[in-house]
Amino acid sequence: MTSVLVVIPTYNEALTIGKAIERTRGAVPDAHVLVVDDASPDGTGAIADEIAELDEHVHVLHRAGKQGLGAAYVAGFGWGLGRGYDVLVEMDADGSHQPEELPRLLHAVEHADLVLGSRYVPGGRVVNWPRRREALSRAGNTYTRLALGTQLRDATGGYRAFRADALRQLDLDTVASQGYCFQVDLAWRAVHRGLRVIEVPITFVEREQGESKMDGTIVREAFVRITQWGAAHRARQLRELVNGARR
Ligand code: GDD
Ligand code: MN
Repeated sequence: MTSVLVVIPTYNEALTIGKAIERTRGAVPDAHVLVVDDASPDGTGAIADEIAELDEHVHVLHRAGKQGLGAAYVAGFGWGLGRGYDVLVEMDADGSHQPEELPRLLHAVEHADLVLGSRYVPGGRVVNWPRRREALSRAGNTYTRLALGTQLRDATGGYRAFRADALRQLDLDTVASQGYCFQVDLAWRAVHRGLRVIEVPITFVEREQGESKMDGTIVREAFVRITQWGAAHRARQLRELVNGARR
């Protein structure tokens, strides 16, 4: 029996976390859920604790303060890998990722190392997202493809399923990405290590409650880091070309 842990990072998700857990438990009853809360001022952590009290499939990892989506996932993955889960899932707390689509990701990860829920492959959809946000997301993915030379259509999305042994190969302790470029970071590490990365279509539905934590700092960090990774990648390619020509 494959053991599954759904990691849900939270910052001020008091209005959404209960529903997300309930829908996840309904969609994949055998899965466990880990809420990684960064000391949300709105009491998200206490709500998650109350749910965990009554449901042994639900766990909570409290952290001292807001340290970014990337750091939350690194902590959550460390918690899950340490407890031997076979598959670890990324899911947002705000209902943007449909828990009802999780069985499809879990089926796909039986034949892959990493499954990306993709908004931008045939069958993928975005609902109620402001045009500006969708344009930013698509531009970010186009830039990522050009800079890193990947074929991925949605490297920035946050609905994914990793095989544990694949995750262990990604050197999580060297991840410096704080914000959403964490998503590109991990996808790039997986592709770069020759792991089997596949995309399955998902429907991303913009949240109806609470606020997005996306801000300018997160966008700037993504641009700087993806540019750095891209420059290093192209330099490596050039060196290999020159060395190949010398032989
Ligand atoms: N623990 C913790 N700490 N959780 C956080 C933090 C943080 O600093 N910042 C955000 N989160 C959580 C939110 O509470 C939510 O569960 C999830 O991360 C996504 O945050 P949103 O603020 O809802 O992200 P978004 O909807 O604007 O961005 C979406 O698209 C991005 C780019 O495609 C998300 O799906 C991102 O994961 C995705 O990378
Ligand atoms: Mn969201």
